[in-house]
Order: sequence, then C-alpha cells, then structure tokens
Amino acid sequence: MATMVGTQHDFASATISLLELEYDALEAYTKAIDKLENNDYKNKLREFAGDHERHIRQLSMLLSMHKVDFAAGPDLKQWLTKGKVMLADLVGDRTILFAMFTNEIDTNKAYDSMLNRSDMWMEAHEILTNAREDEKKHKAWLEQHFRET
Ligand SMILES: [Fe+2]
Ligand SMILES: [Fe+2]
Repeated sequence: MATMVGTQHDFASATISLLELEYDALEAYTKAIDKLENNDYKNKLREFAGDHERHIRQLSMLLSMHKVDFAAGPDLKQWLTKGKVMLADLVGDRTILFAMFTNEIDTNKAYDSMLNRSDMWMEAHEILTNAREDEKKHKAWLEQHFRET
C-alpha cells in the first residue's frame, strides 16, 4: 500500500496519503525506540522520529494553506498500518532496524513519486526536497546499522 503513495490522481490526495505514511512511520519509530536495547540506536531513532514530526507539521501546513480538508492525527494512522509488519511482535535490535529500514524504503519511494509529479504545488517543492534528504539519511543509516548489528 505504501508504495502507492504519491500516485494519486490529484496533488492534494497524494499529499494526504503522504501525510498518512508519515504518521505511520512515526508510530513505527515510537515502537522501535521503545523496543531497542542499544541506547545509541534509541537516540539515533529519536532524532529520526523528530524529522518525521517536522515532516508531519510541514505537510499539514501545506494542506491547510491550500484549504484541503484532512483528518489530523490518530484517525489517519490506522489506514496505512493495515497489512504492515507489526513491529510490536519483533524481537532483537537487528530485526527492528531491518523492519525500520524497509519502512524507510517506502518513505523514499513516496517522496520520489511526489517529486516527480507535474502538478506539484509551488510551495511543496522545498518541503518535499528537504524531507526526501531526511528520508535518504534515515534509510542509509538503518541499512548500514542493521548489517553491522
Ligand atoms: Fe518523514
Ligand atoms: Fe524517515
């Protein structure tokens, strides 16, 4: 489902799906931080969760600016968690980092799709470009560390 983000018919709908994915990612981070043993990993993931919180704020602001109605917060979450790997059941730092890495593959794909759209709002470009850099950084760190763990 997550890989569909960014392919919706209009830019507003695509942005709402992206926001849903961001809430989903943040929820996964919260669970992962709770479950990880290694404190350095926890701290790094807290930093990444902070990036996702910023993305949520910026995407919400963008939608408000364009007078798009969207549900804020918990309502959105369930939508994308369906069918995803339930992080709560995972055990071990390596497994958790790997699960988070696969989540970040989805966020990277979603931002790539969004940035490829020809109907992008002018104000969206900088927000999406900066967020994609964050997602690339998250994915790279998770990939490196699950391999080393
Ligand atoms: Fe994000
Ligand atoms: Fe991320």
